[in-house]
Amino acid sequence: MSEMIKKAIFPVAGLGTRFLPATKALPKEMMPIVDKPMIQYGIEEALACHIKQFIVVTGKQKRAIEDHFDCAFELEEKLRKSGKKRLLEEIKKLNEINIAYIRQGYPLGLGHAILCTKPFVKDEAFAVILSDDIIAPEDTLLKDMMKLYKKVAAPILALQRVPKSEIHRYGVIDGIEEEPGVFRIKKLVEKPEPEEAPSDLAIIGRYILTPDIFEILEKSEPGKGDEIQLTDALNKLLRKRPVYGYVLKGNRYDAGDKFGYLKATV
Ligand code: UTP
Repeated sequence: MSEMIKKAIFPVAGLGTRFLPATKALPKEMMPIVDKPMIQYGIEEALACHIKQFIVVTGKQKRAIEDHFDCAFELEEKLRKSGKKRLLEEIKKLNEINIAYIRQGYPLGLGHAILCTKPFVKDEAFAVILSDDIIAPEDTLLKDMMKLYKKVAAPILALQRVPKSEIHRYGVIDGIEEEPGVFRIKKLVEKPEPEEAPSDLAIIGRYILTPDIFEILEKSEPGKGDEIQLTDALNKLLRKRPVYGYVLKGNRYDAGDKFGYLKATV
């Protein structure tokens, strides 16, 4: 049987240009969905899957994330004195989460952000969570992917069926359905024109990756947008070993996009 997934990586070093000017000084991942910053939803999702070690890849202007998960002594004292027990518990539990931070000096792409975690991950499989993809809290996507990983011991990408008009915004797979909702991936195409898309199955922000991805990322040249693309590395990986896709059954909100953010809030 394959080992358990113990670590989750949160790459948050992107510039968040779709939300400028809000994200000029404020990290996109700290934008609230009602009363919690985006990133907290992803952390809580991983905690619900018994993942207890977190690695956040940060960059410039992202210090608010570290403060959010730090001890807030004065605030805690104030809440204690005023008897606001429930709020106090909520604030304190943020400080109990085990998070390591890594700086990605230059935002050289998602692939590069993941490569930055190599010294911390070493030789284990790990989860990657893109926190602007909000998965409905009642959905078991990551749990199901971890269950599948136990069986196949191979990388797994979360997939969602998307309408043709939106397909150009995603990485899209070509694959064979091996069991309902589980695809063996043959190829990935990054942001295809609708007529070139091999399917309507788009990659969304949850991955289970194996450490052999690091070797490929290390040798990767910058691709589209001058960034080290995870999709390019995954295309190389799937020539060497099986890579699977798991189709989301419930709802996902793309909170990195203005309309998606509003929908997630509602
Ligand atoms: P996006 O492509 O969504 O970029 O990155 P972004 O910066 O978050 O947002 P826009 O498109 O400019 O509005 C996908 C994920 O990869 C991370 C981002 O933080 C996001 O979670 N990322 C991207 C990095 O950590 N480093 C990078 O160099 C690029």
